[in-house]
This record gives sequence, C-alpha cells and structure tokens, in this order.
Amino acid sequence: MQRADLDWKNLDFGFRQTDYNIRYTWKDGSWDAGVTSADQYIPLHMAATCLHYGQEAFEGLKAYEQKDGSVAVFRDIENARRLNRSCEKIYMPQVPEDLFIEAIDRVVNANRKYIPPYGTGATLYIRPLVIGTGARVGVKPADEYLFLVFVTPVGPYFKGGLTPIDLVVEEVFDRASPGGVGDVKVGGNYAAGLRASFKAKAAGYTEALYLDAKEKKFLDESGPANFFGITGEGQYVTPRSGSVLPSITNMSLQEIAREMGMNPQSRAIPVEEIFGFVDAGCCGTAAVITPVKSITYRDKKVSYGNGSEPGPWCTKLYHRLVRIQLGEDPDPFGWIRKIPQP
Ligand code: PLP
Ligand code: COI
Repeated sequence: MQRADLDWKNLDFGFRQTDYNIRYTWKDGSWDAGVTSADQYIPLHMAATCLHYGQEAFEGLKAYEQKDGSVAVFRDIENARRLNRSCEKIYMPQVPEDLFIEAIDRVVNANRKYIPPYGTGATLYIRPLVIGTGARVGVKPADEYLFLVFVTPVGPYFKGGLTPIDLVVEEVFDRASPGGVGDVKVGGNYAAGLRASFKAKAAGYTEALYLDAKEKKFLDESGPANFFGITGEGQYVTPRSGSVLPSITNMSLQEIAREMGMNPQSRAIPVEEIFGFVDAGCCGTAAVITPVKSITYRDKKVSYGNGSEPGPWCTKLYHRLVRIQLGEDPDPFGWIRKIPQP
C-alpha cells in the first residue's frame, strides 16, 4: 500500500487533511445512498439549526493497522448506538447501525494511505457527525440533516501518551447537569467545558476534573475523557453519574479489570476518595489511558505513582487494551472488526 509521507511517530492529536469524507443526506424521512467527497467544506444554509440551536452530535473512534497488516476498528457498533442516543436526545433522526458501519468502511477504505503503520503509536481517528442543516428561525428541529464521516491520522491526545498528567477539581463551572445532555456526545457539552479547561491550563494543570453539578460532592469526569481510580484494595472504580458520557473505552477497561481480578465498580464516588486511591487514569478513544500524576482539590494535592512514571495499574490496563486493539493479543471479547478490503 502506498502510504502518505508523514512523520508517523511524532503525530499530535490534530487535524491533518486526508483525501475523502463520506456524506449522507436525510430528507423527507430517509437517508440517501451517500457520496464520497473530496471537499473539506460543507455548503450550509445560514439558518441551519446546527449553527443556532446546537443540533449537532458526533462520535470518535479509531482504525488500527494490526500486527498482521489488516485494518480493524474497535467496537464501532457501540459508537453507532451512542450516536443514536445522542440524536434521539436532540431530536435528530437515527442513523441505522448498518449505515453507520458502511460509512466507516467507506471512509477508511477511501483513505487507506493515511492509516498509520503498525508500531508507530499513531492511529486513524474517525470522526462521524450528524448536523441539522435545514433552515429554521423558530426553535424546532430541522427538516434536513447531514451525516458526515471524516478521518485524520493522530497521535496521543495528551502530549506524551502514557505520560502522567495533573488534574484539578473544578468547583465553579459545570460541564453538564443531571437531566441535561451530559450523557450524550453533543457539541454544546464541549463548548460548555472550554472555560474550565482554560482555567485549569492557565493555573498549570493539564485538565479539569468535574464534580456532579447538583451537589458538587461526587466525581464526574474530565472534559475529553472518563475518570477511574484504583483503591488501596486494587479495585477499579469509576463514577456512575447521569451527566457523564458512557465511554466505550471505560466499558472495555471494566471488562479487562474484571479479567485481572480488579472487581470493577461503577458507583457514585465522593470527591474525598481521591486521597485514598493508589493510582488513577483518564480514559477514552483519544486519551486511551492517560495516567493521572496528581489531583488538586481545594488546597490539597494528592499524587499517584512516582511522579514521572505511570502507576502499575494504569500500565497493566493500558497494555492489555492496546494489545487487543492492535491484534497483538487474541480478542476474547469480540471487540475488533476488520475492515473489509474494497
Ligand atoms: N467523556 C467525554 C466527555 C468524551 O468526549 C469522551 C470521548 O469520546 C469520552 C468520555 C470517552 O469515550 P470513549 O471511550 O467512548 O471514546
Ligand atoms: C474521543 O475520545 O474520541 C473524543 O471525542 C474526545 C475528544 C477529542 C473531545
């Protein structure tokens, strides 16, 4: 396969142009057959609902060149399901699961030369999105939608990959509220998180860690990733909350933790428990597992691991997950789907 000329080992998590994206239009109650487009831009009506009333939902998943040279995606059916939960919540049409899968196959195959080579640590990030394109001025759902999927080769979301990061507990700004849309992947949640993220970075931290918006007592998640802690008993615990995005990576890590005898538990976690953890991490498609070096809450800071090195639990979980994703370990869970060659 002819490969693009990129510095694969040093890619950051940024947008890099590829050749094609796939676009399906919804009109009069159904999706069309979709087109392969080389255009990076979308012709959009100025009154489109995505611009004014936030009718936008997206997904994030990755394609991996496997050890055997084939190309696979990780649990994409779960992304299809979550996209539909997002669409349902903001009154957008459902994307049939087989259409979603077809779109993934089409976009990966159309951009094969941008799939990072096995062993470089980079992956092909796949970004599906649905937007309301129909024109409205009154607040109501659009009558036309676009389902678009593009890809871009990426490196780690947090610089350094498995390099530990510093979190700060955010007590003023909320990302999402109970009964709102924090449990789905809609664009507005990310706009709402920008203030806390900028505040955290300005104070020297890597990211903010949110508390539940109602009581400000329990851990929620970080802006772009779920959070987990490892208790002194070696148990994997992760916040259960109506305003956290159900992360597919986190779901998978709970399975892996079960396999490793870490008795995973998803429950409300009082913020004070951070002081009892022996290791902690952020997890997500983009973040994979990013170990947490420290968490600052009010005037107290707790540190995990020995500072610069990831803790042992994060390291073990990370390697097991990535080995399955790259086809280095057999996949006992049925998480890997090979992309059929055209
Ligand atoms: N939490 C938020 C807010 C996210 O944006 C993401 C990324 O998708 C995640 C968690 C992790 O989810 P996943 O593991 O499905 O990528
Ligand atoms: C992902 O992990 O895929 C995300 O969407 C997180 C982020 C880039 C917002």
